[in-house]
Amino acid sequence: MDTSDWLVTQVGECLPCDAPRDDEFPASPYRLYRFLTDVEDILRDRPEDEARLAAIRPLVRRLLVSSDWLQGEYRAPDPQTGWSVVILYDEPDFPLTVQMVAWLPGKVSPIHNHGTWGVVAVVSGEEKNTLWKRSPTPEFPDRIESVGDRIFLPGEIISFLPDAIHCIEAMGEEPTITFNLYGVTDYQRRFEFNPRDRTAHLF
Ligand SMILES: [Fe+2]
Repeated sequence: MDTSDWLVTQVGECLPCDAPRDDEFPASPYRLYRFLTDVEDILRDRPEDEARLAAIRPLVRRLLVSSDWLQGEYRAPDPQTGWSVVILYDEPDFPLTVQMVAWLPGKVSPIHNHGTWGVVAVVSGEEKNTLWKRSPTPEFPDRIESVGDRIFLPGEIISFLPDAIHCIEAMGEEPTITFNLYGVTDYQRRFEFNPRDRTAHLF
């Protein structure tokens, strides 16, 4: 199993990050409620997104290593839409949401950013991320260009800055299952992009 951690920046760089090995974690169970309070403390103490993500990534890894049950908490993708979401935690005025997302093989997402920090851990299947960056012209201020793609495998954790732009495609033969953690969305900062028309709209 690959155990790489990554940071995707607003210009589509995919930077490798230090990742603890699975055997470095304490043997005691790491419960979801402790994880939530630990992340809440990080968000309170660290205002800067990159520092937040550096602190949160190892907690996500520890949670997934410790909690086998989490890996089964997904719903089969809807055959109509090709995907499904199970909200594992979402409380009003709590600064994060936790989701399990499943995609049918071949399904492709729109090109988007999240308007908040995010951490995605691949639980099973393969997820291709195509990364983009803004490349504005006077005529097309929302023009973007692709800066490459990368396939992530189970055990990999990808963290995103709020303005990181990507689209994903579920690869392989089986559904792609991911554990996703997001901060509070700034809806004035979250866009879907259309590279052909060189436009973007809030969603
Ligand atoms: Fe996304």
